[in-house]
Amino acid sequence: MRLCSVVGMGYDWKKQYGFIILFLSLAMCAASAEIDRKTAICEYNRTKALNLVEYASAVYTIDDLSLLSWTCSRCKGLTKGFKIHTLIVDVQHCLQAFVGVAENLDAIVIAFRGTQDTSIQNWAEDIYFRELDLHYPGVIDAMVHSGFYAAYHNTTLRERVFDAIQAIRQARSDLGVIITGHSMGGAMATFCALDLSANYGFKNVEVITFGQPRVGNYAFALYYNAYVPLTIRVTHAHDIVPHLPPYYPLLGEKTYHHFATEVWIFRVAVGRLQYEFERVCDGSGEDTSCSRSVTGNSIADHLNYYGVYLKTEDDVMALQNSSNGQTLGLGCKTRSLWERFPAMAQE
Ligand SMILES: *[C@@H]1O[C@H](CO)[C@@H](O)[C@H](O)[C@H]1NC(C)=O
Ligand SMILES: *[C@@H]1O[C@H](CO)[C@@H](O)[C@H](O)[C@H]1NC(C)=O
Ligand SMILES: *[C@@H]1O[C@H](CO)[C@@H](O)[C@H](O)[C@H]1NC(C)=O
Repeated sequence: MRLCSVVGMGYDWKKQYGFIILFLSLAMCAASAEIDRKTAICEYNRTKALNLVEYASAVYTIDDLSLLSWTCSRCKGLTKGFKIHTLIVDVQHCLQAFVGVAENLDAIVIAFRGTQDTSIQNWAEDIYFRELDLHYPGVIDAMVHSGFYAAYHNTTLRERVFDAIQAIRQARSDLGVIITGHSMGGAMATFCALDLSANYGFKNVEVITFGQPRVGNYAFALYYNAYVPLTIRVTHAHDIVPHLPPYYPLLGEKTYHHFATEVWIFRVAVGRLQYEFERVCDGSGEDTSCSRSVTGNSIADHLNYYGVYLKTEDDVMALQNSSNGQTLGLGCKTRSLWERFPAMAQE
């Protein structure tokens, strides 16, 4: 556990919660990005995380034209001036991603949308039971969940993302690469980062995901840490999804295991006030003093990172109306990811 410097910041969450949340940030806690396979701790740059969560939110936008012109309701604020290069919409699999250039980050930003399933609750129940059913190609003992793997590797996304990056880099070899995503989009972001780093030799690919599920076992986590050490996996309070699929310590390589480095945003109530803190967790991936120290039972925490909503606009409105998070996703007609990938339905 590392608690470092404290910086006060106020967020206007009053509308949603009716009380003041004072954000206390614990920025820049970890040492520089040392690459130790077992205890990798990546440097956490809070400014960058605040930027990236807005991209992870914008990619939920349903209106393609407002994304292409970067005028969507979430295309303001810190992402202002983003030059979108390619918008990828895979209607068949109900997936969406974009690639573009953020000059203020000196980087190509790639964002993957999370699930558009009709209810996050159903989706969470669905992934709860998904086994590690695929050997990650070329890595002994590394197992992953085929659904998350296929959503990136077996769809149009992989090729189109890669083509877009290459096209940008031909003219702008100075730019870095930062990949982001929320929920299942975070899982896809990590498969993309690993693919670029391990299979295409990209250097210093950075990843920041928000509320992503576990995607593979311990052998996979070690492999991932070695190739994509500049990864921050942000988790929020009781967000249910980082707890899924579950971690069973006694099952060894048969259990899912997160990779490094988690940054856990947690709440502390003092009377009627709620404070949020951030903790840069150890490099194990399964730090018991971070999100694993609480039950993962909140969908509302899943849909809100740093005060930014991560869901389609319709859902946001319905969420604000109902405040239980179990709302209809209107972006996709089909019921679940597993229906869209019949080959994956194991049960
Ligand atoms: C954090 O990220 C921002 C945005 O990319 C950058 O301007 C700043 O220099 C970074 N801070 C550190 C300490 O690396
Ligand atoms: C990917 O697609 C190929 C060809 O359609 C199929 O054989 C394979 O099982 C799929 N892999 C996964 C993990 O779904
Ligand atoms: C939410 O409430 C607003 C105002 O009360 C209403 O206009 C809107 O249609 C509602 N949206 C949904 C999705 O229920």
